Amino acid sequence: MIRLGVNIDHVATIRNARGEIHPDPYLAAIKAMKSGADSITIHLREDRRHIRDYDLKKISKNKKIPLNLEMAANLSILRIALRNKPNFVCIVPEKRKEITTEGGLNLKRNFKQISKIVKILNKNSIRTSLFINPTINDVKISKDLNVNCIELHTGRLSNLIKKKREFKNELIKIKKSSKYADKIGLEVHAGHGMDYNTTKILSKINEIKEFNIGHFIIGESIFYGLKNVIKKIKRNFK
Ligand code: PXP
Repeated sequence: MIRLGVNIDHVATIRNARGEIHPDPYLAAIKAMKSGADSITIHLREDRRHIRDYDLKKISKNKKIPLNLEMAANLSILRIALRNKPNFVCIVPEKRKEITTEGGLNLKRNFKQISKIVKILNKNSIRTSLFINPTINDVKISKDLNVNCIELHTGRLSNLIKKKREFKNELIKIKKSSKYADKIGLEVHAGHGMDYNTTKILSKINEIKEFNIGHFIIGESIFYGLKNVIKKIKRNFK
């Protein structure tokens, strides 16, 4: 069965819009878990635009919540991560001006830095994944970086599907990357821009073991509630 990681960053976005304490991402994490999420994902960005240090502290203290922390390959964020001991870390690229994580990591350019961070995470027994573009080359480099998992960036596929454009080639890239990663012993995750349609399509790829979905789940929950949305997404899994 595919696992669902619910990304609750945008609960913090709504809270921060007023600079107050409501809605509380911690409560969203509890509700999402009760509604069938398998883990909770949060991204502690360098600019702290949504999740703040106190959110990470509060959520990571509750050991009943399997926590996946997204972070840039940055040593000061790593220090914070190690203090809070998330169960999983996903290393992502970060640009100050982007609205969201626009693409996968540039593994070639940042090999040394990523390698240094992965070594420390491995030493601390934190399951680590790399957010990468769906290419065989990036899967190969991920293996060289000695991570447990990769997360394939599905943003391009999701955009093509939403715009009702031809998506076959992008889907083939994701399929091939998934199969190759699985063959060489990397667990495959996928995420970005996903909704009901993309989950239906991607859950047919047997090698993908986990989806991480945020914006759509939080947005759709305004109309139908977190529980109904999570249940509907999970019904799309095989
Ligand atoms: N996976 C990773 C690694 C991400 O960086 C993000 C965005 O924070 C997501 C999944 C979730 O993307 P979305 O909010 O578009 O569902």
